[in-house]
Amino acid sequence: MTSNTPASQRVAELRKLLTDASRAYHERDEQIIPDAEYDHLIRELEALEAAHPELDSPDSVTHAVGGKASSRFPEVVHAVPMLSLGNAFSDEEVRDFVRRIDERLRRPTLMFSAEPKLDGLAINLRYENGVFVQGATRGDGATGEDVSANLRQIKVIPLQLQGEGWPDVLEVRGEVYMPRADFERYNEQARLHGGKVLANPRNGAAGSLRQLDPKISAQRPLSFYAYGLGEVDGELPPTHSGTLAQLARWGFPVSDLCQVVEGADGLLAYYRDIGARRDGLAFDIDGVVYKLDDREGQQEMGFVARAPRWAIAHKFPAQEQTTTVEAIEIQIGRTGAATPVARLKPVHVAGVVVTNATLHNADQIARLDVRVGDTVIVRRAGDVIPEVVSVITDRRPEGTTPWQMPANCPVCGSEIVREEGEAVWRCSGELSCPAQRKEAIAHFASRKAMDIDGLGDKYIETLVDAGIVRGVADLYALQRDQLLVLKLALDAESPEALASQLSLHLAPEGSGGTLNQILRLDAADAGWRARALSVPARFEWNTKKIATKWADNLIAAIANSRSTTLSRLLFALGIEHVGESTAKALSVWFGDLALIRRMPWPLFKRVPDIGGEVARSIGHFMAQPGNQEAIDALLARGVQITDAHAPHAKLRAELNLANLLQDLEIPKVTPVRAKQLAEAFPSAEAIRDESAHNFVTAGLPAETANALVTWLDVDANAALFSAAGAALQQLLALTPEAQQQAAGPLEGQTVVLTGTLAQMNRDDAKAQLEALGAKVAGSVSKKTSFVVAGTEAGSKLDKANELGVAVWDEARLLAFLAENGKQA
Ligand code: IVH
Repeated sequence: MTSNTPASQRVAELRKLLTDASRAYHERDEQIIPDAEYDHLIRELEALEAAHPELDSPDSVTHAVGGKASSRFPEVVHAVPMLSLGNAFSDEEVRDFVRRIDERLRRPTLMFSAEPKLDGLAINLRYENGVFVQGATRGDGATGEDVSANLRQIKVIPLQLQGEGWPDVLEVRGEVYMPRADFERYNEQARLHGGKVLANPRNGAAGSLRQLDPKISAQRPLSFYAYGLGEVDGELPPTHSGTLAQLARWGFPVSDLCQVVEGADGLLAYYRDIGARRDGLAFDIDGVVYKLDDREGQQEMGFVARAPRWAIAHKFPAQEQTTTVEAIEIQIGRTGAATPVARLKPVHVAGVVVTNATLHNADQIARLDVRVGDTVIVRRAGDVIPEVVSVITDRRPEGTTPWQMPANCPVCGSEIVREEGEAVWRCSGELSCPAQRKEAIAHFASRKAMDIDGLGDKYIETLVDAGIVRGVADLYALQRDQLLVLKLALDAESPEALASQLSLHLAPEGSGGTLNQILRLDAADAGWRARALSVPARFEWNTKKIATKWADNLIAAIANSRSTTLSRLLFALGIEHVGESTAKALSVWFGDLALIRRMPWPLFKRVPDIGGEVARSIGHFMAQPGNQEAIDALLARGVQITDAHAPHAKLRAELNLANLLQDLEIPKVTPVRAKQLAEAFPSAEAIRDESAHNFVTAGLPAETANALVTWLDVDANAALFSAAGAALQQLLALTPEAQQQAAGPLEGQTVVLTGTLAQMNRDDAKAQLEALGAKVAGSVSKKTSFVVAGTEAGSKLDKANELGVAVWDEARLLAFLAENGKQA
């Protein structure tokens, strides 16, 4: 029957491609073609099979559901087959889906459950008399793999159902997924320690679940959302949405993005709403799923080959695409880290044109073996920078060579070096490297730092190139005239255009000499824009002919940023490992810049969440004369901290010799030994000049005593020791007694936020509640003090009601905050 027509050839070709890809994906967790391309090819095959029914065959991939169970795990035959979903890519296809249901059911209204389509791995969880007995992957839909041991490691999967009334047999289906933040954290660690980097969160989930060793899968942070049922022996609500609500009451996580909507318009509005929120979600979704809500209607609609007629997946633009690497360049970051970046043939990924993708570091390039000329899969998810996920080696052109890190910084020519045991290569030029300086200034001005709005990267670039801004403090000396020239220079297309712009805008008198200078600007010299900034500022601007608004606003923004908070300034300084939250913690605990900039690093470790690495990094930063000068320069230019205060009373309990000895990281001085020393000696000073013999007399093992004396023999250690001892005393003198600081009104209370708040965003609400002493938690339990529920609150609200936990609406929250001096 299959004569050798072009159609039959193409069908055979497509089947081979798709079968190989599907096998690799389902059986080996490998991706050899991106999703979007797979979807596209499947559709082509479906269309061909529809147009040429003689070419269709029951074993075509179009009728199959994914992979075959691999033999490493025991097989599980699903009591009810696990099916797949049909796809819609356009509004029209969604309307067709609704029309088909409408034509068959003829109901006055059609209600649908609309849900996020999580990008993970489908599983079936089986409960008998409320107890988890088995969990399996989908496999080929009929037979899956028994991965119960690994599923037991996922905290949110209930092992015993809550409440009552569960069916004797209950199979719950849903998606196991890896939250994006956990995925990023996991890969960051893997890159640092040379482990296996996960291509995307979905592969992370699939690979973890199919680990033979449950201990390994326990280390991978997985989560789960329930979205459906398998075999059920007992009663359940008559609608899908009612069932999900019931599942939530029994303890299953159900996404609070699930909604009941009416008709095609309701579905499309939901699609757009979720699409707009996609980047901000904690997990990857590749679309949404629509399901006819009432089960009777579902039964009436029935199934086609591999999918139900009552449900469909509406896909978002793909987050992965293929393109080619045109070059691999090095980008120098704020701390000098040399990050290789792939310059790509422009490609649309999830709605934006991507031309660059990070390759993270040299190890990552080596691992992926990315070469110039390669065809690669790029991925863009959430607000994460686009990255190269993998190379399609089958499509590699001839004559390519492995990539190597260049020996010198492309910006300043300094050597690029890598420290022992570090994953990152760095330009050794520090702040003499213009690239590092530009990054440091951009960070300083950024929204969460000094918030100097209007100072975009291109301005910083030119100001640094012109030598006008050498360090962050120079921003506070910028003149309006300089900014006006800068704006004209950046807007001008050529030196001639700039010269004529300048002559137009400068008062005619006295401009002759300098204008000549400007006219000598040479387009061949790439720095002509920067050089225009050397025009002396003695000219009068013809302000009628120049847009001055940007310069005026920027001058105002710079002036405004002079009064700032301690945490903003600390964050703005760009100390390695000091992000926003560490900066906040430092500000809360120590309260004063003068104190922090002179503090020996071991004392920073008293702040919860600050460990040795971060503490040393702060100490290292403050030990650089250039950095101290930069802080002095900022203060001299009028930068002032508005919220300086005494160290927090909580610090008092931490300030003792035993803790200090422990924080100094002296070899062999364990917490027990530190305590012993602190009991035997009154102060750091008393310890410094002691002999090993006396330490032994005080009860220390000889080994510890010797280690301590050897350590103190090193001058730098002895100096740190003395300085830390003195700082401890100084801090004690400055830190008030506990009762002098009032506890917040929510001290000791745990609050959960759920749903959407209309008047403030969740982060702000959280920060304000925390400022009043509350702990803000992610899930509701008996210990929750109250739940703040916005609109569209889902399972958390149900849980609160069930447990009898108090619920506040937004108005009550706002009133409470206002009463306590927070946002009115
Ligand atoms: S319902 C018969 N609901 O998408 C209905 N599936 O392409 C079967 N998925 O295998 C699935 N989120 O892995 C359903 N809210 C959701 C989903 C969802 C993600 C996945 C699931 C399924 C695949 C179908």
